[in-house]
This record gives sequence, structure tokens and C-alpha cells, in this order.
Amino acid sequence: MQKITKICCIGAGYVGGPTMSVIANKCPHIQVTVVDINQDRIDQWNTEDLDQLPIYEPGLKEIVAENRGKNLFFSTEVDRAIDEAQMIFISVNTPTKTYGKGKGQAADLKFVELCARNIAKVSKTDKIVVEKSTLPVRTAQAIQNILDNTGDGVHFEILSNPEFLAEGTAIDDLINADRVLIGGNETPSGQAAKDALSAIYENWLPKERILQTNIWSSELSKLVANAFLAQRVSSINSISALCEKTDANIQEISRAIGFDSRIGPKFLNASVGFGGSCFQKDILNLVYIARSFGLQEVADYWEQVIIMNDYQKSRFAEHIISTLYNTISGKKIILYGWAFKKDTNDTRESAAIHVANALMEEHAEVIVYDPKVTESRIYQDLDYLETRSPEENRRLLTVAKNPMEITTDAHAIAILTEWDEFKDYHWEKIYAQMLKPAFVFDGRRLLETDTMKAIGFNYYKIGQS
Ligand code: NAD
Ligand code: UGA
Repeated sequence: MQKITKICCIGAGYVGGPTMSVIANKCPHIQVTVVDINQDRIDQWNTEDLDQLPIYEPGLKEIVAENRGKNLFFSTEVDRAIDEAQMIFISVNTPTKTYGKGKGQAADLKFVELCARNIAKVSKTDKIVVEKSTLPVRTAQAIQNILDNTGDGVHFEILSNPEFLAEGTAIDDLINADRVLIGGNETPSGQAAKDALSAIYENWLPKERILQTNIWSSELSKLVANAFLAQRVSSINSISALCEKTDANIQEISRAIGFDSRIGPKFLNASVGFGGSCFQKDILNLVYIARSFGLQEVADYWEQVIIMNDYQKSRFAEHIISTLYNTISGKKIILYGWAFKKDTNDTRESAAIHVANALMEEHAEVIVYDPKVTESRIYQDLDYLETRSPEENRRLLTVAKNPMEITTDAHAIAILTEWDEFKDYHWEKIYAQMLKPAFVFDGRRLLETDTMKAIGFNYYKIGQS
């Protein structure tokens, strides 16, 4: 079996950066080079001040500090890194298509195809090419075609090795992965490549957790894993709406059903709706694939997970508006949290964007505080919606650095991300500063109902009447 000593990863994003940092950390004998065409991003990965890394992820900066410059490198020299590597991970973004056939559903594979063409152009020795990005089932065939037809006699072995890390817990998820999935061709060279990749993970994970499958099962398993996780969130969120009508309590229901070992306790937290770069994108992709095979019922079934998530976000915003007497024009509403979950600076598809947009449609004066998300990111997210002009977005919404000051004369606070620090705020002081009646809308079920009511708040917690 080939011993891998040089690997390259194309794409220095939320997956490429942390994944390669952990491989470098656990495999001192392997030289890892992470490349990206985005010069700014690479500069940020190389920054002296480790608090300025492009990604906030607990535990990441410590690993980067330990390995960067030793066996972990970040660079824009894509061709050179490909040429030198024995194994190349493709970890570029695969967003939902915004144009042409499959617009709004299919995955846009243009970045992946560019990588394949680049690998074919540059390679002079045999390579193992690893799909790390999340891809539609049978993408490996397209990659193989590109490589075989332009690769100048070099042998390319393609593997699928989807990533299952969650943001905010990426380092722990990588170090203590439930499983690693490796799909490859069922040929002697395919088996050898799977074993070579498996050997890398075996540096820190028990062999029993490394699953080998055929390449199509591996590609499809990634989409299905995300669809099942998102389905649980939408399922519990659908019941949260019913709880609010019936005096049942969603947390008690989650606990009651989660005790059944067949159901299990995880991913049963009702919320303002799931966000993140992948759940929606991957389910849309699954829906598109099912439809393209004529499986209408299968497509409709999974699409409902997204319809329920959209409903949850708009239901929350509408509840704020109706509770504030159906008129929020000019009312000061504070949003605590903009990231799609705690412990990340990622805001892609965050529920906060949609809630803010709905409140701004009603001309509320919105003020946002998030401990890790930058002002420019927040405005980019709003501008991307194209609901109104960038000037209007800046007029209706401001971004604050001090979470306490902004509550003076506020009508309401909505909690949209479950940052731990929100639990420790001086809520009595906040209450004293706000206009009365003072409302708190808790989209993350973060605070204690009895405490908040005792302080005097009109407190709404999602999934509880
Ligand atoms: P990202 O947008 O954070 O990073 C992708 C990077 O690839 C960008 O920096 C971009 O500049 C770079 N890139 C694009 N084309 C390139 C090219 N031709 N050459 C060099 N660099 C190029 O994306 P991400 O969140 O890291 O996701 C990457 C993939 O991993 C996606 O398919 C996603 O679905 C999947 N995934 C993401 C997560 C997550 O938590 N974010 C988890 C599991 C899987
Ligand atoms: C998710 C999966 O958990 C990862 O396994 C997968 O690798 C990744 O997508 C991906 O492919 O990108 P991530 O989106 O980073 O990870 O974060 P999650 O912890 O799954 O949370 C997603 C969203 O669901 C968040 O908005 C979160 O707040 C919400 N959520 C999660 C709930 O509302 N309730 C829950 O019980 C759990």
C-alpha cells in the first residue's frame, strides 16, 4: 500500500481549514498544504494574530499555532501543491445553483469541475483524488471522465470521503468522529486507495469507525445523513407549533420521546428554524436528484422538511409582529444573535436573516448584536436578499458592539442564536432599561420562563404557550 506523505487540499473554507489542521496535527509525518484561489482567505489563515483566522471554531487556533509552518501550510500556489501531492482533497464550495437548469435546487458543480480540470492539467504522477465536498450521487463519474480524458496518461483513483463535522464543534467532531466514510471503486487500485486514506485516519481513530463502501453509497450517504438530521429539526419544530396551541411543552415532549432508545435524545431542540450552509442546500439537491429520476413522491416527501423550516422562521417573525399589537413601525427591536448556531461566525442561511428581513418589511428599527459576526457580514446577508436597497438596509438596521446599552427604550428583544453569554446577561437591568411592557421572544429556548416572568418580562419561548 502506498504510504502517503504529501497531501493537498483545494479549498481553505470551513471544511478544508479545520479538517486539514487536524490531519496535520495527528499525522506529523504528512506534509499538508491547503490551497485556495482567494488570496484574502489565505492571508487570514497565515495571519500572525490567531484571533483573525477566517473561521472561528473552538480549539482551531491552538492547532493552527502548533502545526502551521511545520507540516501545515496555507498557500495560493494551487498548481504547485497539486503537482507535489500524492493525495488531493477537493473541498470547494458546492452551493445551490442560481442560474440555468436546476436553478434553486441542483448543486452548482462548477468549482469542482474547475478543480478536476486543474488536477488533470498539472499532474505528472499518479494521484488519489478525494471528494471531500458534498456532491450529488454519481459526481465521481463526471470527475473520472474529466481526469481520464485530459490527464495525459496519469492514473487517477477517485475516492468519496464526505465530511460530517458540524460547525462550532468541528475540532471535536474531527478528533472523535462517530465514523469516517470512504467510498471507492471496487477494483484492486480502488481498494489500495481506500486503504491509503484509511491509514491516515487510523493515526487517531479506531479502525472499526472507518467504513468502506462503494463510491455511490458514500456520495449518497452524505446527502441522506443531512436530510435525516434536518428532518428531525423540522419534525420537532412542527410539533412546537402544536404545543403553543395546546399548553403542551415541547421540551417535555422532546424528553419523553428521546428517552426511547429507538428515537434518541439528540437533534430534538425546537428552534426558530435550522440554518447553515448545508441542510437546505443538500435537501434541495436530494429533491432535485429524486425528481430527475422521476421519483416525484420521494422528492415531495423531502421538500416538506424545507417547507416546514420556512414556516417556522416566518411563524416566529409573525408572532413578534402580532404580539406587538400588529404595528412595529418605528419600534426598537433588538436581535441577540445572527450566526446560524452558537460558537461559529458562519451566518449562511441563518434564521436571523429572515426574521430581521420580516421585521424590516414592517419598518421596525432593528438593532443586532452577535459576539462573533462582523457588521459587514450582516449587511452582506441582507443585501443578498435584494428585498430593498443597501441604503435602506443600513437605515432600518444597525449593528451594535455593546449588548446592554442598546436595550435602552427597546420594545422587544428576540433571541436568535443560542450563545451562552446571553444566559448570563443582567436581565433585571435590561428590563429596567426597556419600555414597558417589555417583551422577550426566545427563539432558542435559552432562558428560564419563571425567572424571566418574575423579572416582569412578557416572555415567549418557542414551543410553549
Ligand atoms: P467554503 O465556502 O467555506 O470554502 C470553500 C473554499 O473553496 C473557498 O474559500 C473558495 O475560495 C475555495 N475555492 C472555490 N473554487 C476553488 C478553486 N477552483 N480552487 C481553489 N479554491 C477554490 O465552503 P465549506 O463550508 O468549507 O464547504 C465546502 C464543501 O464541504 C461543500 O461541499 C459543503 O457542502 C461541504 N461541507 C461543509 C460543512 C460545513 O460545516 N461547512 C460540513 C460538511 C461538508
Ligand atoms: C450539519 C450536520 O450536523 C453535520 O454533520 C454536517 O457535516 C454539516 O451540517 C454539513 O454538511 O454542513 P451544521 O450545519 O454545521 O452541521 O450544524 P448543526 O449542528 O447540524 O445545526 C444546523 C442547524 O440546525 C442550526 O441552525 C441549529 O441551530 C439547528 N438545530 C440543530 C436545531 O434547531 N435543533 C437541533 O436540535 C439541532
